Amino acid sequence: MTTEQRTPLPDSIHTNGATPNPWWANAVVYQIYPRSFQDTNGDGYGDLPGITSRLDYLADLGVDVIWLSPVFKSPQDDNGYDISDYQDIDPMFGTLDDMDELIEEAHDRGIKVVMDLVVNHTSDEHAWFQASRDKNDPHADWYWWRPARPGHEPGTPGAEPNRWGSYFGGSAWEYDPKRGEYYLHQFSKKQPDLNWENPEVRAAVYRMMNWWLDRGIDGFRMDVITLISKHVDANGELPGVGANTESDGQVGPDGYSSPNPFCADGPRQDEFLAEMHREVFDGREGTITVGEAPGITPERNRHITDPANRELDMLFLFDHVEPGGGQSKWTAEPWRLAHLKHCLAGHQGAVRESGWTSLFFNNHDQPRVVSRWGDDSTDEARVRSAKAIALLLHMHRGTPYVYQGEELGMTNAYFESLDQYRDLESINMYHQLTEAGVMTPDEMMAALKAISRDNSRTPMQWDATKYAGFTAPYAPTAPWLAVNANHDVVNAKKEKRDPDSVLSFYKRLIALRHENPVVAAGDWRMLDGDDPHVYAFVRSLHEDGVGGGIDGSGERRIVVVVNMSGSGAKIPAETADMLGLGLSGTTLGGVSADRILISTYPAEETAADLLFGKLSPWEAFAYEL
Ligand code: GLC
Ligand code: CA
Repeated sequence: MTTEQRTPLPDSIHTNGATPNPWWANAVVYQIYPRSFQDTNGDGYGDLPGITSRLDYLADLGVDVIWLSPVFKSPQDDNGYDISDYQDIDPMFGTLDDMDELIEEAHDRGIKVVMDLVVNHTSDEHAWFQASRDKNDPHADWYWWRPARPGHEPGTPGAEPNRWGSYFGGSAWEYDPKRGEYYLHQFSKKQPDLNWENPEVRAAVYRMMNWWLDRGIDGFRMDVITLISKHVDANGELPGVGANTESDGQVGPDGYSSPNPFCADGPRQDEFLAEMHREVFDGREGTITVGEAPGITPERNRHITDPANRELDMLFLFDHVEPGGGQSKWTAEPWRLAHLKHCLAGHQGAVRESGWTSLFFNNHDQPRVVSRWGDDSTDEARVRSAKAIALLLHMHRGTPYVYQGEELGMTNAYFESLDQYRDLESINMYHQLTEAGVMTPDEMMAALKAISRDNSRTPMQWDATKYAGFTAPYAPTAPWLAVNANHDVVNAKKEKRDPDSVLSFYKRLIALRHENPVVAAGDWRMLDGDDPHVYAFVRSLHEDGVGGGIDGSGERRIVVVVNMSGSGAKIPAETADMLGLGLSGTTLGGVSADRILISTYPAEETAADLLFGKLSPWEAFAYEL
């Protein structure tokens, strides 16, 4: 296919009051984790030719954009999020020629290509960092170098500049004997943080970004981009470093405090993003930018994504996939629907007038959503709940992201032993938390089964052969991470033939966003916010194309109802009212199967359920009023 797959929203329809209609307003993005997508040379790692070979599958699914997790040259300490050369491809994935070919083939199919921009940190093997280890080199100030805590012997335990812990375990400071100082690394010690206060660092990053865009890519997903501006004081010093070592935050049972309050959304965040926009994106058309934004509030999301501020197109916020109340992800309380409602309502509400939001439940850092919030205990429940959760997400306003395998209803890995894990965070935190006595080994294994990042990183399940079609069944090397045992049941080949599969359902959801401007641009309002099982909302669009009040005339409205449980439920009052369901259980407005745009059950069954004001397990539908 060489034509555009979708009709962009007509100009008369505004995505909201302030935003002129950008091309991505009704687009869907698909995230590829390259090392787990498709291996073509039998080394057990996915590669770029593998992605190219699967573009027809993606075109058929209907996605508009693919985002590749990092494929740049990297020692692979954190699976490519530790980059040693931004302008080359890691040999594991192929060559620059392979990348050029992927871009061209994707564009031929009307699919845009987004790359991962990892510039909060580099690899410690990057030439910039190696040069920085010499105090007299021009790169000396490109990273956060600090001396040992006063009165301590450099390199000895407790001599770190402060008590910040790395998100991947251990201190956030590493001693370099060559320089005789410590460098800051919020992630692994092979991921030193770049010093964005230095204008030369920023200029080098912008040069690199322009080089890639000139090569033909369409935008960037920006890794932890809201950590680039640190809360330095008037002397350019980090909090709790040097003379002030006691004020570096609350220390946890493992002996470390979180750098987040001091290193996230710092005072120059907006300035840096606006500068990046000027230096890289001004004058370019058809690009897309999405920033990974841990710890950013919905209000800050509105500011950063307000087109008037010229920063980023959209952000990933995380409160909805993180435990509330400051709990750690490893020890969190069970998930509650109320938390999801609260967070998503916050995201939607904040960008009602200006700005934009992204929609996602899965990525390479999250467990599989069907295992997390759905039910994968039987295949029927898995299929039903995967569809219900997908419908819930995709009927919101914003840009949906589908993470590879999500469209198949792929599940968590359920590894039984620690040596099956490859993720450095999982392995480091296992040791740190069990050694500190915070969790027992059994508790930690259970936590990994539920939350480890490797749950979403198992190879893509293409078919029922030995390695799920990820690599050839006779390949000399097994995949780098074990294939999920359920690939005989959960795989693309099987689902493609089945009109009732999760895959077919995603295809319809994606098509619906392309076709129906109410889905793409309509206003959003929660219904029955207090119901503990049913998630319902209404989308509305004025006929003149501008999303507005729910109750005005001349509006097109869609009511979305999702039973987020495996038991039957009652359609709650406000939702029933909106649907025109009478109190007696008979219809007043005239429920019609034709008005059901999509449902997790056959439309006639949903229409019958509506007559009785009830919902079957995981029943979810969108109903056009
Ligand atoms: C982001 C990435 C994650 C990575 C981390 C450090 O959170 O999504 O995979 O480990 O940043 O780069
Ligand atoms: Ca390979």
